Amino acid sequence: MKQNPFFFSGEISNYNYIPRLVLEEKLLEWVASGVKVRIDGDRRIGKTSLIKSSLKNTTTLFVDLSAVKTEEAVLEAMEGALHRKNEKLASEVIDKVGRALEGKSIKAGLLGEYSLNIATSKRLDCFTEIEKILDRMNLESKKERACVVFDEFQELLGLPDPNGFLWKLRSITQRHTNLCYIFSGSRRREMIALFADSKAAFYKQTIHFSLQPVERKLMEPWCGSLFRKNGKSLEAGVFDKIWEVTHGKTGDIQKLCHFLFENSDAGEVSTSDLKVALRAIFRADHQINTLLLRGLTAIQQKVLKAYAIVGGKERFNADISRISGVGNGTIKTCLNTFLNKLILFETEDGEICFDDPFLCLLLQQDY
Ligand SMILES: Nc1ncnc2c1ncn2[C@@H]1O[C@H](COP(=O)(O)OP(=O)(O)O)[C@@H](O)[C@H]1O
Ligand SMILES: [Mg+2]
Repeated sequence: MKQNPFFFSGEISNYNYIPRLVLEEKLLEWVASGVKVRIDGDRRIGKTSLIKSSLKNTTTLFVDLSAVKTEEAVLEAMEGALHRKNEKLASEVIDKVGRALEGKSIKAGLLGEYSLNIATSKRLDCFTEIEKILDRMNLESKKERACVVFDEFQELLGLPDPNGFLWKLRSITQRHTNLCYIFSGSRRREMIALFADSKAAFYKQTIHFSLQPVERKLMEPWCGSLFRKNGKSLEAGVFDKIWEVTHGKTGDIQKLCHFLFENSDAGEVSTSDLKVALRAIFRADHQINTLLLRGLTAIQQKVLKAYAIVGGKERFNADISRISGVGNGTIKTCLNTFLNKLILFETEDGEICFDDPFLCLLLQQDY
């Protein structure tokens, strides 16, 4: 059986990655100049992939802050990143030594000796440990600038004392002249609160860059070529539909193409194959969708369905109220719940959209 060339769950390998050369170059320029960079953009449009791909030849501490709730969890995320960084460096060293020795075997223990032993060091308070890691990273990067990435940075707002933490972090980052800091995040509102509010610790500290999904002119030929390489081709109009359903969101296009690939035969792939693929997605997501809907009250379910049917160009309008049978005050409360639960999100233009376009479609079809 042929391997499905489309991949949608997390970090992508070179094979699946559409190069975004202009953006990568821009990012590298900023890294070289040592400015701090803030990257925001909706979920699953390729922030993490872009940052990782751009920095593949730069020493990087990549700190994934998704779901951290305490300072200790931040420290753990950083320690994990430090291990990964050192393992990567160690394997590069081993690789180089290996090549120099022309294939003679290398002692297995080398990697272990090279990596840092942080676990045994006595823990000071969390922030002091965090400071030590960053100071050390700065010190090690005298010859060549390195990078520290805080991915999903807005999660720090959930710490018990976010402001205290952020001001301390700011003062450390200020003195690290050998490091470039990248802060990326997917919750626009929170990112604005962190960087664009005049009272915020990181106010006017960063160059701001708002990432958009991979453009259609890159995405369409790329998807087409992956189908073609595997003996399939997209019938006219199929990609239009894919783009429409997913609103051009990179990760969702990969997901739909994955299911389309899986649910079509060799030759022309048609819009009826697309319907089959969408049904397959509904089946695959049945459990998580059921749980999500069960977590809502009957009224919230009605309002959510109304947003799926009417769309969210306006936050509130008479149609949402008419279809859900619910008054504006209640709709407002429901909307806040959906935004907080990340079921809906607000675009840069203020449009209310479903985080999962396939759930939106499912709710429309039920109507
Ligand atoms: N440059 C790219 N080329 C192809 N697919 C991509 C690219 N960037 C992102 N994707 C798709 O989007 C998914 C989510 O990407 P990710 O970088 O994790 O997004 P984000 O960090 O913005 O949430 C990936 O698993 C992949 O399917
Ligand atoms: Mg990400």
